[in-house]
Amino acid sequence: MNESVVLDVKNLKSHFFTAKGEVPAVDGVSIQVPAGKIIGIVGESGCGKSMTAMSIMGLLRYPGRVVDGTITLDGRDITHLKPKELSQVRGNELSMIFQEPMTSLNPVYPVGVQVREAILLHQKTTKAEAKQRVLDIFQAVGIPEPEKRYYNYPHQLSGGLRQRVMIGMAMVCRPKVMIADEPTTALDVTIEAQILRLMKRLCAEQGTSIILITHNMGVVAEICDYVYVMYAGKVMEQAETFELFEHTKHPYTQGLLKSIPRLDEKADRLYTIEGVVPNLLHLPKGCSFCTRCDQAQERCFTEKPGLYAAADGHGVRCLKYESGVKMDGE
Ligand SMILES: Nc1ncnc2c1ncn2[C@@H]1O[C@H](COP(=O)(O)OP(=O)(O)OP(=O)(O)O)[C@@H](O)[C@H]1O
Ligand SMILES: [Mg+2]
Repeated sequence: MNESVVLDVKNLKSHFFTAKGEVPAVDGVSIQVPAGKIIGIVGESGCGKSMTAMSIMGLLRYPGRVVDGTITLDGRDITHLKPKELSQVRGNELSMIFQEPMTSLNPVYPVGVQVREAILLHQKTTKAEAKQRVLDIFQAVGIPEPEKRYYNYPHQLSGGLRQRVMIGMAMVCRPKVMIADEPTTALDVTIEAQILRLMKRLCAEQGTSIILITHNMGVVAEICDYVYVMYAGKVMEQAETFELFEHTKHPYTQGLLKSIPRLDEKADRLYTIEGVVPNLLHLPKGCSFCTRCDQAQERCFTEKPGLYAAADGHGVRCLKYESGVKMDGE
């Protein structure tokens, strides 16, 4: 990837300090997000996708915290910003859409007013101008009768409309990067496809980059430019989307790809690979995937693989590719 990188995450480590021990939920993740591109993060439940997103957003809460690495947004190190500085970045330059919009919208305010307040919080403008921008963004995200919907409360909208409000809210300040954590899992498939295509179009128009977190390889194939496959807190494989699907290298990714639901089919969680994700407190000594890998050799149980370049921009965390240049510092 030679494009200008707008968000650069380097060797990010976020741990949870629990009574049972230190849980390495995000264990040395590096992600580069070029301007205007869509980056997919995939992997089974519990592999660290959301915690990576929450770390980038500065939203990790006790007992979790970022213990190492850097997060750089447009050349500025935002890893350890003070709460006040962070709230300026969040919602303005960096925004996030969560899986369930009911929990992120305030039930006691009309949705239009909530989006208007998000604008007024970050940008110098009048209430009337801000309201007009809300109506424009409602129109852009496909909310019919924006004037009427402006005064609706969250419970008066369908799930699809609520998610459109959230996308509108996330995009209205024209952020540099928007993180969407399973933004459409709660919706039915036709709406899911519509909303993802809409996000893609709007971001292309505004030059906003997206990090899209999903279980659904079909969504990735259709929407993303570049993909990171995570397992047990680490990136196991990364490549441009076409390269990843055409030349899949990691046994874990190969497992995930055995069933690719299409974007217009409802994807269930991907449990195609035998066994379960290991307990992060008791990871295998070698490769974290060795206990489930159908291609594992003896040394996979004792040696930790680095992330090796198997082709240009294509990284694989597997000893089979150790002849390639190391892409991370480990
Ligand atoms: N409050 C917590 N205390 C201890 N460990 C936690 C806590 N929250 C998360 N974790 C650890 O972080 C790991 C990663 O969780 P994360 O929510 O990032 O997974 P995910 O990939 O988003 O999964 P899903 O697909 O189900 O959303 C979990 O497996 C768990 O071990
Ligand atoms: Mg998650």
